[in-house]
Amino acid sequence: MSTRRKSIVAGNWKMNLDAAKARSLTEAVAARAGEAANVDLVLCPPALYATTVAAALGLAAGSSPSGVAPSGVALGGQNSHDKESGAFTGEVAPGMLRDIGSRYCILGHSERRTLFGETDKVVNAKVKAVLATGLTPIVCVGESLEERESGRTEAVVTEQVLGSLAGISADDLAKIVVAYEPVWAIGTGKVATPQQAQDVHALVRSLLARLSSPTVADKIRIQYGGSVKPDNAAELAACPDIDGALVGGASLKADDFLAIAKAFG
Ligand code: 13P
Repeated sequence: MSTRRKSIVAGNWKMNLDAAKARSLTEAVAARAGEAANVDLVLCPPALYATTVAAALGLAAGSSPSGVAPSGVALGGQNSHDKESGAFTGEVAPGMLRDIGSRYCILGHSERRTLFGETDKVVNAKVKAVLATGLTPIVCVGESLEERESGRTEAVVTEQVLGSLAGISADDLAKIVVAYEPVWAIGTGKVATPQQAQDVHALVRSLLARLSSPTVADKIRIQYGGSVKPDNAAELAACPDIDGALVGGASLKADDFLAIAKAFG
């Protein structure tokens, strides 16, 4: 972890929990957020429970995205549409996420890419819309097992980074977060080795420098995601280009999520 970048640890709850559990998990994390005071903490609940989580965090409706919840824990979406409103049944607009107090939005998660057909072009439109709304996109990239085993990790990640972030100004790039999530490590218990993760993080940072400048790229936070647990977080956190974690399964338990956050502190 660079001394110049503040770590960011986000919980991606995916399609889990119910309203009561979402509230109690939020309260448990918020009550102990001070244990990881020098880490930015983010909770990304299912859209339907976002207002429940916002209320539990003390975020007022209509609060500005720069407003920090009293708990210090921020709210994030798991996905967003790229239009502000209209006939898009079942979708959530970036302005709606902001309206309920979100500061972040995960975009281009591998589950969105593989299960819902999101291409780099789709992700790129969403990144631009979310930035225009004043939220911070957490842009996910990562190779599949087959792509890694056939030696295509670098090519795949390069294409995803350059495609998902095409046409974005250096000023806007400076505001984003990137998450490297190797698909083979998601929900499998198979975490990338610190060296495997660091190698791809360094590649991502060099691509960000190509899109902006080394100075801007040096400021952008790159999270690792994929089976991050309390017992492997510290070795990942020790890598120079790993600036936090995007946590799935372990984010559903306050103890585990906070232990991971503390490892990045
Ligand atoms: P797991 O931590 O459950 O492997 O999920 C990672 C992930 O997809 C976070 O976005």
